[in-house]
Amino acid sequence: MITLKQYRQRQTRLLAKLPENSVCVIPGADLQTRSRDTEFGFRQHSDFWYLTGFNEPQAWLLLSNHSRYGGDCRGLVCLPKDPAMEIWHGRRLGPEQAVHELKFDEAYSTESLAEVLTEWLAEHDNLYFPQGEFPDADDAIFDALSVLRNTPKQNKAPSAIVDCRPLIHDMRLRKSGEEIAVMRTAAEVSARAHCRAMTFAHSGCFEYQLEAEIHHEFAMAGARYPAYGTIVGGGENACVLHYTENQDAIDDGSLILIDAGAEYNGYAADITRTFPVNGKFTPAQAALYQLVLDSQLLAIEQLVPGATLPEVTKNVVNVLTQGLCQLGLLTESVDDALANQSWRRFFMHGLGHYLGLDVHDVGEYTQQGSPRQLEAGMVITVEPGLYIPNEPDIAAEFRGTGIRIEDNLVITATGNEVLTDGAPKTIEGIEALMEQS
Ligand code: GLY
Ligand code: MN
Ligand code: MN
Repeated sequence: MITLKQYRQRQTRLLAKLPENSVCVIPGADLQTRSRDTEFGFRQHSDFWYLTGFNEPQAWLLLSNHSRYGGDCRGLVCLPKDPAMEIWHGRRLGPEQAVHELKFDEAYSTESLAEVLTEWLAEHDNLYFPQGEFPDADDAIFDALSVLRNTPKQNKAPSAIVDCRPLIHDMRLRKSGEEIAVMRTAAEVSARAHCRAMTFAHSGCFEYQLEAEIHHEFAMAGARYPAYGTIVGGGENACVLHYTENQDAIDDGSLILIDAGAEYNGYAADITRTFPVNGKFTPAQAALYQLVLDSQLLAIEQLVPGATLPEVTKNVVNVLTQGLCQLGLLTESVDDALANQSWRRFFMHGLGHYLGLDVHDVGEYTQQGSPRQLEAGMVITVEPGLYIPNEPDIAAEFRGTGIRIEDNLVITATGNEVLTDGAPKTIEGIEALMEQS
């Protein structure tokens, strides 16, 4: 669990990055309409969650290092207590309790947001704010700035507006021990869910049934929501990278690609497994699968401190291209296929991405124009794949086959730790698990 102490430490670290006389104002998320008067389940904005652990809509975090506060000052704007509203829509902490429980110096009701923003922004040189994240928040900030600019003798408006996101995102990129512990749980729950889907699968089952098995396992472990739309693609559907219709029956002899990860305490797992619906790979499926797996195992060996994603991607592409040539899916020489990038027909996405509170997590991939080196504490995915279209020039046994194998790694001081090895990925491991069921 992430403790209040850690949330407060994050606020302190952010405050320490601000120049003198700065205020940082960070809006949280609001509810999103699903249809008419029903809403999607509330999901806090990841930056706001990272800094506060406060899970109510319409909240604002206020941080200032103005000398008038005699040190750092932390404030929260949140929905007021309101018995009638709480009967309908759920409990609210309220500003009085927020000061108490979350140790803010000041807390205010959303009803006084306009005055609070004007008061907090006044007399600061720099305003740090994530402009463009929420249009309503932009309006509230620009209204407050207008008020300050139109009363020039009393209230000085900040002269600089600076994006606070790069500062926060750089903090989020390297995970603490506590964050890694939470991500380990997200990964374990997700791996179990993949095992459950493999165990359930049988010829003729529907993609949505496998999705239900996955979500059941998530929810039973306290992870009510998936970290992203679960992908269950049988047969050719596996070649649609972000396939989420999940409507079709899966024919005997097909592979199933499942890309699913739980969100646990806000943190994502992101696992893909590909397996035969009837529990046995055909020789052609096995050959392609082993090629993807070999490339993934090589990548895992190489994703260590100091390595960069592009250099490891290049090595993965070499392995995949050699294999594609051997299998006759590419008919040029390996050198020509690499030079012409012909492999892109079958592998058209990146090798991996940062993982954290967002599935495609924040943080820069380059530094001073060069690929960023991996560092201890970063969490990344490694997810090579091959997607063979159903097209006439392709040998029949390979047509319409999509394979991806995706694991989550923490970069450690000496190498990496795979968080997601609870879900089998060798051909023998998958066939053995499916045979038991
Ligand atoms: N699940 C989306 C991805 O693998 O990046
Ligand atoms: Mn994925
Ligand atoms: Mn991924």
